[in-house]
Amino acid sequence: MIEFQSICKSYRSGQGDVVALHPFDLRVERGEVFGIIGHSGAGKSTLIRLINRLEAPSGGRLLIDGEDITSLDAMTLRERRRRIGMIFQHFNLLSSRTVADNVAFPLRLTAMSRVGISKRVHELLAWVGLDKYARHYPAQLSGGQKQRVGIARALATQPQLLLCDEATSALDPQTTASVLQLLTRINRELGLTIVLITHEMEVIRRVCDRVAVLDAGRLVESGPVERVFLHPEHPTTRRFVSEVEHLDENELHRDFAAVTGDILRLTFSGETTYRPLLSGLTRATGTDYSILFGRIDRIKQVPCGQLVVALNGGDPAAIHDYFERMDVDVEVLRR
Ligand SMILES: Nc1ncnc2c1ncn2[C@@H]1O[C@H](COP(=O)(O)OP(=O)(O)O)[C@@H](O)[C@H]1O
Ligand SMILES: [Mg+2]
Repeated sequence: MIEFQSICKSYRSGQGDVVALHPFDLRVERGEVFGIIGHSGAGKSTLIRLINRLEAPSGGRLLIDGEDITSLDAMTLRERRRRIGMIFQHFNLLSSRTVADNVAFPLRLTAMSRVGISKRVHELLAWVGLDKYARHYPAQLSGGQKQRVGIARALATQPQLLLCDEATSALDPQTTASVLQLLTRINRELGLTIVLITHEMEVIRRVCDRVAVLDAGRLVESGPVERVFLHPEHPTTRRFVSEVEHLDENELHRDFAAVTGDILRLTFSGETTYRPLLSGLTRATGTDYSILFGRIDRIKQVPCGQLVVALNGGDPAAIHDYFERMDVDVEVLRR
């Protein structure tokens, strides 16, 4: 659906050019929820703004459904933008207009009749759970409600693609969860492709199918969320993952001094998560284990887990075979 081909972006400034994005390639498939994570200044907003041409790339090609959007004339571009909705961290609502007027705003630029607009606005507000708030003003709403208005407005022109720029970054954890649930519904029930950017791995874990990691303007890692989460490769990715795990690698390594034996990191997902892995290990191989770190979680809908264990006794080959049979990925942290 979206194809970045050797896309790059620099900004002109007084002190010379600022490279916001070094050349990269990336594909977002139709129907997926694609996350882009990076620290502040990594180039996330620039990347997402290239998709609806709020920014023009400095080089490369950007195809949407096979069409190069970098070479469209102004009128075609306006028409194409209608197929793309966008929501923002600070909602960008018009404070002097009612909720209903905010949602109606993009429709007034179309040929739709007043009656048609009013009907569509009420459908949209009902869909995001705000039907009772049509006559309210943004200042009378909570952050989560404001973002729902932003979402209803973004959906007004029935786009195929929804861009989310830090859409939950100004919200508390509980409100974040409910907005993320709404995004999941938009993806499942309305079939929209979603590209979202965030600095929180937790947001990626809850809603995304695939993720790309941006580090100082470079795309350093990308892949299915499950893989990137359970086997992060780039140091920046590792840091993002350890933030959600509340796991400090240095502290973990200090714990190593307190135990004897081989130390392994076990990673598993799907059905394996519910197996009696460790008691089975002891029965099958006679090894004793102690747990140094453990977490069972869900990535989107898939259960998964990670354990760091110290093993004493038992035949190493038998232990290896056991984990292979159980479909557990083993990384030796200390032998
Ligand atoms: N309009 C602009 N003019 C000059 N530099 C900019 C502009 N917009 C962004 N930048 C710079 O580009 C880099 C990436 O910014 P941005 O895409 O906003 O990152 P993020 O959204 O990840 O925080 C930063 O160094 C930022 O200062
Ligand atoms: Mg930004």
